[in-house]
Amino acid sequence: MTIENPIPFGRPQMGQAEIDAVVQVLSGPQLVHGPVAKAFEQRFAARAGAKHAITVSSCTTGLHLVLHVHDIGPGDEVIVPAMTHVATANAVEYCRAKPVFADILPDSGNIDPAHVQSLLTPATRAIIPVHYLGLPCDMDRLEALARPANAFLLEDCALALDADYDGRKAGTLGLAGTFSFYPAKHMTTAEGGMIITDDDNLAQRLGRAKAFSYDRGLGERTKPGIYDVVGLGFNYRMSEVHAAIGLAQMDRLDEIQKVRARNYAALRDSLAGLDEVTVFAPQQGKARSSHYCLNAILPHDRSIDRDAVVQSLNAQGIGTSVHYPSAVPLFTFYREKYGYRPGQFPVAEWMAEQTISLPVGPHLHDGDPERIGAAMKTAIMQAKRQ
Ligand SMILES: Cc1ncc(COP(=O)(O)O)c(C=O)c1O
Repeated sequence: MTIENPIPFGRPQMGQAEIDAVVQVLSGPQLVHGPVAKAFEQRFAARAGAKHAITVSSCTTGLHLVLHVHDIGPGDEVIVPAMTHVATANAVEYCRAKPVFADILPDSGNIDPAHVQSLLTPATRAIIPVHYLGLPCDMDRLEALARPANAFLLEDCALALDADYDGRKAGTLGLAGTFSFYPAKHMTTAEGGMIITDDDNLAQRLGRAKAFSYDRGLGERTKPGIYDVVGLGFNYRMSEVHAAIGLAQMDRLDEIQKVRARNYAALRDSLAGLDEVTVFAPQQGKARSSHYCLNAILPHDRSIDRDAVVQSLNAQGIGTSVHYPSAVPLFTFYREKYGYRPGQFPVAEWMAEQTISLPVGPHLHDGDPERIGAAMKTAIMQAKRQ
């Protein structure tokens, strides 16, 4: 049976502007190290209210790069939430340091500051708050914990573009923030990422380390091809082609964000009468969400089979996702390496099993949020009957 007008979880907003921008780059002489990535960085920094923005090949490489230039290494510990994309913890592993997992809060999905406090040791060098599905963490409390511990805050803003905390944009609240431009995100460059920071020295070192730590860039070389290498660097650059897509996407961003917020509110309203589903408040204290998706939370007692609800939604043409499929310490790699066991991160484990991410992106048409709400009601009824 084919479903009429299926609604995917996400669909990038691409148009003639992106196509023209790519064609223009491809018709020119410079595919890397060029002016388009520079222009993208400047525009992104200005929007975020940050002094510097540095393009990178993904959010993952951005996280790694910040930790690397801060000399995070063997013997160091970095506190990360147990409920996040595996990339957050992997970035710590790439440095041969130890990710230390904190459980999350049941009303936001964000890292639990009280648990963070209990995990601080003299080896703690950094905390990575992940703004879960776009809602900023309690940055005041995390800052108050990090400062006396001499640790820095690196914000994982993969899903938090334009999220707001106390009138400041996510990514500007710690030492640095990293963003993802993977296709399902608020905006995309196909693959790509951005780091923002106000720290001049950090920005300069990140710029060098993402391109092999050459001592001078292309424009600074007196003899072509001659350079020194002043540290261990990587190839984490963003090409001009990807940057051109990003720059064109920024023209759409105000509209995209407006529609996301509107869809979120409409979908939340349409779920309001459904006792079996709760939804995180998109504004909590000083934090305002970037509405990455709507996380439908099923009862704590596991009386409803999440996977049956997902199956029913998908059969009704509603695309879904899960954020995330497991508490990170319980993925095989981390479990086997560090010996974690089920039950150690109860909130994260519950969230992995009992939530469903529903679409609110700008690809939704008029009436779609209501359609998703109605499909959810049907799905819950069906899941209960099984
Ligand atoms: C919280 C979080 N951090 C990092 C990433 C990785 O982003 P990227 O694919 O750009 O490396 C993701 C991907 O969805 C994510 O959700």
